[in-house]
Parts: sequence; C-alpha cells; structure tokens
Amino acid sequence: MHGFGSAKLILLGEHVVVHGVPAIVAGLTRGVRATLTPSHDDTLIVHTDDGAELFRVDADHPPRDPRLTTAWAHIRDTFSVPDARFHVRLDLEVPLGAGLGSSAALSVALARALATHVDGVEPARNDPRVTLAVAGSEGAFHGHASGIDQAAAQFGGLFVFTRGAPRIPIHAKPITLAVCQAAPGASTADQVAFVRARRERHTVAVGHLEAMIAGLVEDARRALETGDAATLGELMDLNHGALVALGVSTPALDLACHHAREAGALGAKLTGAGGGGCVVAVCDEPEPILARWRAHDLPAFSVTLGASESA
Ligand code: PMV
Repeated sequence: MHGFGSAKLILLGEHVVVHGVPAIVAGLTRGVRATLTPSHDDTLIVHTDDGAELFRVDADHPPRDPRLTTAWAHIRDTFSVPDARFHVRLDLEVPLGAGLGSSAALSVALARALATHVDGVEPARNDPRVTLAVAGSEGAFHGHASGIDQAAAQFGGLFVFTRGAPRIPIHAKPITLAVCQAAPGASTADQVAFVRARRERHTVAVGHLEAMIAGLVEDARRALETGDAATLGELMDLNHGALVALGVSTPALDLACHHAREAGALGAKLTGAGGGGCVVAVCDEPEPILARWRAHDLPAFSVTLGASESA
C-alpha cells in the first residue's frame, strides 16, 4: 500500500498566516512516500532521498523523537485500526524539519496509504478521514498550526491560503525557484510562540508588518499570474525583511539569501518557520545559485512552478 504527501514551499506569508493574513504556498511534486505492509510487529523505517536509512523505530529501537510514533498512532486511531501492525517505510524527498512541510507530507502519505489498506482503493484528495487524521497528527508535531502545511501536502499545486477559508488556486506562468537548506531547522511551535509573544508586546508595530505582508501577498499573486519574476523577487526580498523584523531569521538564513542575490537571484527569503531551515530564491537561471550554495556545503535543488508543480 502506497501513499504520497507533497512537501511545500511558502513563497510569502509564513507566520502572519497563523494570525489570519493570507499566504502563498506551493505543494510540490516532491514530498514523502509511505509504503505499508501488514506485519506481525510494528516497524517504521525512514529513508533519505539517496535510499540511505536515516533511522528506524521498532522493538529494539525506541523513538528518539516520540512525535512521529504519536502521529502514526493518531492516524491509526482515526481509521479505527489502532491495533493493526505494519512494516512502514517512509521515503523522504525533502529534509526533515527544515521548513518544507515534511511532517505534514509524511502524515498525508501515511494516512493515504492506510486509507488504501482499509478501503482497497486510493482515497480522494479531500477524503475527510485523511483530513482529520492529518490535522491530529500535525497537532502532535506543531501544536496550533495554521493548516497551511496540511493543505499543501494534501492538495498540492500553487494557491493562496487563508486560515479557515477555501484555497484560491493561482494560475501561474512558469517561474523557477531555487531552494537550499541553510541550517538545521528549529521547532515550528517555538518559532510560532516567539512571534506570538512579540506580537503581544508590540501590537501596533507587528500589526503594520502584517498589513505590509498582506499587501506583498496580493501583489505577488498578480506577479505569479503574469510571470513577472523580477517583481516577485522584489516582493520576496521585502517579505524577508519583515521576517527579520519579526525575529525569525538567523545569520545563516540571511547569508544564504545574500549568496543567492549575488549569484543572480531576483529575490530571496527564508521559507517556513525560520530559526534555521531553508531559503527560497526566485531566478531566471537556477544553476549559478545552486552552485554558489553548494560551494558553501548547503544542499540545494530547484523547482519550476506553473509547469508540473502547479498543475
Ligand atoms: O514548520 P514550517 O516551517 O513548515 O512552518 C509552517 C508555517 C508557519 O506559518 C510558521 C506555521 C503555520 O502553522 O502556519
């Protein structure tokens, strides 16, 4: 039994999306693949992109981080098969916990694979049991998440996400993004709590930042629809500045943005919760940017939106 969940890239609007501001997100064609095989005991093995085993959880290997097994238990409960046992293989096509939505992607992959096991057919994208299972397991990973990662992991494509509102698809012209992991990721729950506290202490100033980002999101949507990469890049630079002001960037993330701009990016920003993790840059030509990052030992890849990614 197989299941897939998309990884995600937030183009603009992370953090403020928790407080009701729209954000733009792309669910990618890379993500997490789950394979379930019914078994007499429980095993969970996580593989990286190159096929190497990252870690396993079984009778001899207790979880180092209980969130994954808690999430998996929650998914089994939702499908009313709490005692079923499986050999689970998870293949990660993105780094774990680096702001690319790996936890939502793996929850969606597991829930879809389990739905296929229970029903004998693949579930619909909007299967309510998958939605419920993933919402609960995202709670195990992130506390009070906005739901943006889950929406991207479940539905894929490029869209405007507003908490509690329907997704608004963006019909983008092809646009190329380069992505690198600048540092190990930080806890999303801690980063969200940090922003919440800053927002409570500086209500007016953070309110201005939220209004500014809302404007950037609106303009970025138009830039994506018209394929105006230069404007999108400028808007992403501005969004990065606002994220610096919110306190979620780091020297490593700032430096990775500078490297990208120097190597020809039209704009760059941190993506996801910050405190570490990934940077996204918009560009005409990704190779010089990827080469610059790789020269600094930062793993990197490129994606084109508006072609297969946003289909
Ligand atoms: O944990 P990440 O890096 O996927 O970040 C998710 C985006 C946030 O806006 C920081 C949190 C949320 O739930 O929207």
